[in-house]
Amino acid sequence: MIDIHHHLIYGVDDGAANLESSLQMAQEAADEGVTRIVCTPHSSGMFPYEASLIEERFAELRERLTGIVELSLACDFQLMADNILDAVSHPLRYSIDGKGYLLLEFPNFVNPLSLSESLFRLQSAGYTLIITHPERYPAVLHKPDLVGEWMRAGCLIQVTAGSLYGRFGKREEALANELLERNWIHFVATDAHHPIKRPPHLKQAYDYVAKRSGKETARRLFVTNPQVAVDGGAWPEQPTPKGLWEHEALRFVGAPETEQWRARAPKDATEEAEAGETRPRGFWSRLFGR
Ligand SMILES: [Fe+2]
Repeated sequence: MIDIHHHLIYGVDDGAANLESSLQMAQEAADEGVTRIVCTPHSSGMFPYEASLIEERFAELRERLTGIVELSLACDFQLMADNILDAVSHPLRYSIDGKGYLLLEFPNFVNPLSLSESLFRLQSAGYTLIITHPERYPAVLHKPDLVGEWMRAGCLIQVTAGSLYGRFGKREEALANELLERNWIHFVATDAHHPIKRPPHLKQAYDYVAKRSGKETARRLFVTNPQVAVDGGAWPEQPTPKGLWEHEALRFVGAPETEQWRARAPKDATEEAEAGETRPRGFWSRLFGR
């Protein structure tokens, strides 16, 4: 297996805190049958991407882990203006081993009007976009058809391993399984941050997918698709994503009743204020808050 989303590099974000944690996480992954870890430090407002420090520690870890697990370097790239400008002007800097596949996460506040334009700008610069863990975004849980919009725009989908069996909550679990049923998942990865609290465990999810969807699907999501992303290869044909082009609503336990949701949701922050709502954050901020 190849884990394409893992905060293995110590001391550069909220992932591994020190060298010992990095080594422990790598060993745990290797013990589960992971042969390659893609290291994905954040590049966000809270955790700027310090390229020289990241590259230095990546080289150190690669040397220390020789014979245990192979490493690739990428980024957990937050969709924000400074990042996008930098990525567009430095083609392929943030992608997996500089070969074009870019993992995207969304910030706490997103202007939905600029989202599709941002995705298009990155795609035009040569990136193949991988949307990370959509099942964990409140925005997606409230408006699940966003996933279809991103896929129809050519984005690939990565789900967090633990979401499939409920580590991130019931609705997240239900949505992740609906995406699996629909063939709307292209990668499963750990998004590991810590040896115990956010462990790099992939085998349980592999076994889960193999049992539920068959070994061929498990191999595709944990082995062959990740290998293509690491190689920067042409994206291979996938099973038909059910209901994608028909715009069939995703159905899962906890999914919003669209009409009810629209009736309840304020159209904008002003209306929310006028309505005397005491919610602490604005509509889109709450949707994308994590
Ligand atoms: Fe991450």
